[in-house]
Amino acid sequence: MYNLGISCYYHDSAAALLKDGHVIAAVEEERFSRKKFDDDFPHKAIQWCLDEAGITPDKIDSVAFYDKPVLKFERLLDNYIAVAPRGLYSFLDVIPKWIHKRLWIKNDIKKALKGFKGEIIFPEHHLSHAAHAFYTSPFEESAILTIDGVGEWSTTSYGYASNDSVKITNDIRWPHSLGLFYSAFTYFLGFKVNEGEYKLMGLSSYGKPKYYDLIMENLIDVKNDGSIHLNMEYFAFTYDKVMTSKKFSKLFGIEPKTRDEKTLQIHFDIGASAQKVLEDVILKMVHHIYDKTKMKNLCIGGGVALNGVSNYKILSEGPFENVHIPPSPGDAGSAVGAAQYLYYIYHKNPKDTSDNTQLIQENVYVGPSYTDKEIKVFLDSKNVSYKSFDDTELLQKTAQPIADGNVVGWYQGKMEWGPRALGNRSILADPRRANMKDILNAKIKHRESF
Ligand SMILES: [Fe+2]
Repeated sequence: MYNLGISCYYHDSAAALLKDGHVIAAVEEERFSRKKFDDDFPHKAIQWCLDEAGITPDKIDSVAFYDKPVLKFERLLDNYIAVAPRGLYSFLDVIPKWIHKRLWIKNDIKKALKGFKGEIIFPEHHLSHAAHAFYTSPFEESAILTIDGVGEWSTTSYGYASNDSVKITNDIRWPHSLGLFYSAFTYFLGFKVNEGEYKLMGLSSYGKPKYYDLIMENLIDVKNDGSIHLNMEYFAFTYDKVMTSKKFSKLFGIEPKTRDEKTLQIHFDIGASAQKVLEDVILKMVHHIYDKTKMKNLCIGGGVALNGVSNYKILSEGPFENVHIPPSPGDAGSAVGAAQYLYYIYHKNPKDTSDNTQLIQENVYVGPSYTDKEIKVFLDSKNVSYKSFDDTELLQKTAQPIADGNVVGWYQGKMEWGPRALGNRSILADPRRANMKDILNAKIKHRESF
């Protein structure tokens, strides 16, 4: 049975194909369009998935889209009514996109899959995250936590999963969002929302959490179970294109940082404070979930699960024995998650945990790969010079330049699933050299110094 999963129209559009529950192909549209975070319908990603499997659309049993667009649209309308007359410009910008495009996703899918006669389903946003977290894990049963900006209404949810069922028992709803709380600081400290959150995490390690109390007293009310309530006087994301209000700037005594402005100690300290609040709230959440579920395993999904520092805290200070986070816990990963929901929950197929090593590997290296012959044809067509080596020689020829302080691009096998380089499309450099981070940042990744 082939099941196709699709995620698109926000950021990181992606497609994934499952055969009898196994991920045989998954890739983000940006890998073909070369537009970073491409949010368009994933035509190229879908076509590649079909080509990889050697099938035409009529062989697909059913398709899952990663959330419920109608519910999301309802939340948007509800929100604009609640904040009116503020939000008019945002309304005029956003609503036409929905009316002309996003609400018609079912037609777009049918148009893209000529010959497909099966069913199209729309699992809830956080269920797609939850399914991806659980069905990529080696566990037979597990507690589940999903945290992101917002889905339809939910911004955080928790529950438990076993075999062919994932149950969400509790959630926190719009606009009270831990993900958007963190994105507000991402914006305030000069980074792009939905893209620069990892930069805020990096920046936070250079500061002291001096503003922790100020944030806890004014911006966010945190209960012992980890549930949160944002003080919306400080946030503008419900009615504006910017994330924070004037009151937010006044509280910290500075204006939002622009991208080109120098990063000062106050920016590092505000970042460190926001990161600590995030970690403390998540720790409260996981303790509460453990008390409620009494399970030893935890699977985490949603974009906030990309915060590696907070994940380490969950593992080292949290109550769970085992923690699993999929390689792509954000919305792109939900292309796989939606298809997994379809196969395991909707079609009620049992989860097979008999070969866990294979299960984990087959969820990571699932993207495009090219044969030596294809690579040669490409290099010849571009007049690029190259040499071939056997494995032993190749390792020596690679290790030596790295040891000499050079930077090497390493490319092998199938592309990794998700935003992290996991050994198949990686940049290799010598970590023993004190200046290597600066060289990498300046020359290759064009990142900030931290
Ligand atoms: Fe999400």
